Amino acid sequence: MTGFRQYKIGARLFGLALGGSMTITLFFPSVNIAAVSSTDVALAKQLAIGHETGFNLEDPFLLGKNKPISVALKVDPKTGQPIDGGMMVYVYQQGTSYPAGILHPRILGEGIQQLSEQQGHINDATDARKTAGAVFTLRKGTYQGREFSYIDNLTATKGWTPADVMKVAKDEDVSHAGKGKTMFVREGCWWCHTLLPEETQDWQVFGAPPMMGDFNGESPTAFGSDRKAPDLLHVGSRNSSREWMMMHFFNPRLVQPHSIMPRFDYLWGEKDAAGQKIDFVKWRAEYDEYREGKRVTPPDVPSFASDSEIRSLVDFMLSLK
Ligand code: HEC
Repeated sequence: MTGFRQYKIGARLFGLALGGSMTITLFFPSVNIAAVSSTDVALAKQLAIGHETGFNLEDPFLLGKNKPISVALKVDPKTGQPIDGGMMVYVYQQGTSYPAGILHPRILGEGIQQLSEQQGHINDATDARKTAGAVFTLRKGTYQGREFSYIDNLTATKGWTPADVMKVAKDEDVSHAGKGKTMFVREGCWWCHTLLPEETQDWQVFGAPPMMGDFNGESPTAFGSDRKAPDLLHVGSRNSSREWMMMHFFNPRLVQPHSIMPRFDYLWGEKDAAGQKIDFVKWRAEYDEYREGKRVTPPDVPSFASDSEIRSLVDFMLSLK
């Protein structure tokens, strides 16, 4: 029986430690997360990625439906006049759900909320499932003597509709990072990769750790569970080559001979950029010949179609600056 007694003592001590730490976490938090203001990173991320990228009833199979489109706008869509230095706008077409900051402006933070409501008219962006959607951008303004970035609803302030913007947007100016983040979540990239450099020497390798306010309105955050591969929070700053990304996703061994990363060639879909059916079996056979030394070069990687899932995943990678 003594053995059992010891077990009971251990269990109580364990319960006490767990209960104590939960009490501290819940009742004595060191920061009030709800009161943290959105950083510029959070504002841009919300607008580019949109509402929920994890499981949700509007997109239960995580196909990347109802996601916004980021456009590097070069001309004014109403007048056709060039815009000096370009302008980043976020297009929410009909059916695209608005991000948390538009639906619940209170989470934006003091100053950002007031400017976004009063000067940016974000409350005029009514339910995009019923209306023709809206176009947003980020601007700087002053509230009570301090400068803040805020969300400007260009559909209300300038009359630019999603259709106006899409008419002047060329494919190379467009990013589907929102759909791409859905792919990142669905494909389980976070199983190996983190989006969270730590406050250690990590800084030197993967770049600065994020600020707390960088995550306002983001769901899910996709921090990653446990790192088996490079952190990707700033991957677009160290590698911005679409060509490299394309080869690496089709088969990581093409560029990193000993990589343990799986192939994501199925994200190309059925057809390549020219509309030709992709012959995966033939590609594989030729690649095997290359591995066995019967070919000098590996077969060419098919270019992806502009509406393929891989296109959006590459857009998301390159958006991680
Ligand atoms: C089984 C673990 C694993 C999974 C799952 C995985 N990766 Fe990787 N990934 C790696 C490893 C290991 C490397 C480093 C070697 C290499 O470049 O292939 C890497 C490298 C990368 C790089 C280059 C990083 C750099 O620093 O330049 C990118 C980008 C990337 N992965 C994206 C993804 C995306 C997106 C997904 C999901 C579609 C994914 N990975 C899934 C293991 C994984």
